[in-house]
Amino acid sequence: MQSDHTPRIFSRGSFIVHHYSTIGSTSDALKAIPDAPEFLCIVADEQTAGRGRRTRSWHSSPGDGLYLSVLFRPDAGSEKITLLSLLAAVAVAETLSELGLQRIDVKWPNDVMCGDRKICGILVEGASSGSGDMRLIVGIGINLNHHGFPDDLVSTATSFLIETGRNVPVDEVRDRLLDRLQIWYGRWCAGKWSGILDRWRELSSYAKGKRVIVTLDDSLINGETAGLTDSGALIVKTDSGELRTILAGEVSSLREEAR
Ligand code: BTN
Repeated sequence: MQSDHTPRIFSRGSFIVHHYSTIGSTSDALKAIPDAPEFLCIVADEQTAGRGRRTRSWHSSPGDGLYLSVLFRPDAGSEKITLLSLLAAVAVAETLSELGLQRIDVKWPNDVMCGDRKICGILVEGASSGSGDMRLIVGIGINLNHHGFPDDLVSTATSFLIETGRNVPVDEVRDRLLDRLQIWYGRWCAGKWSGILDRWRELSSYAKGKRVIVTLDDSLINGETAGLTDSGALIVKTDSGELRTILAGEVSSLREEAR
């Protein structure tokens, strides 16, 4: 793990925050602490090895974005993990909305979009623990004060600055997001799963009636979204009329796919 070794440590609600100026990946750093307590949060001004889903990297230029990972140790079955992933997106979407961002959309399960461009990515990973209890690391990257992006991202990514013409203090977004995560995680722990699903549906154009292509490990599905299951899986009605339940996969709207 590459880091500057001297985090600034402070608390925000239930979270103990370790703030580094530079680090390899906030999620890898959290994973490397085997006995990390619940609500430990690692945040960095810059990541030199930021990771996205499916072995992609996460563009983490210094000071431009929020790069943060938190550890949850929930006492719930693994079938509820997708809901945790949805709640993280709800927390981000509400945070950005509160700061004045418009046209927010949530793409299943947890990409936060502005229109059809991605402004935030979320990576939920399990980590092993000596005691065998569940440890989940939720890594969140939000594009805030980026003026632009490298060529490979320029047509698909956006930032708060590009969308609003305003810079936003990264620390303010961090604090607001942690507050939202605490509220929604409290609801998740209390078993208020339908509230999470309802809020996700309100924030997402992908919940129902959206033409999508789903990329699975070995196939593609073309169809239209037809709701979520109680555990947060996406239901897609394929063009041949079959209802498929998507537990994991990459969903793109047909418009995105056409680019
Ligand atoms: C995605 O591919 O959409 C997920 C991106 C997740 C990026 C965040 S940034 C903070 C945390 N540390 C990482 O290395 N990745 C996640």
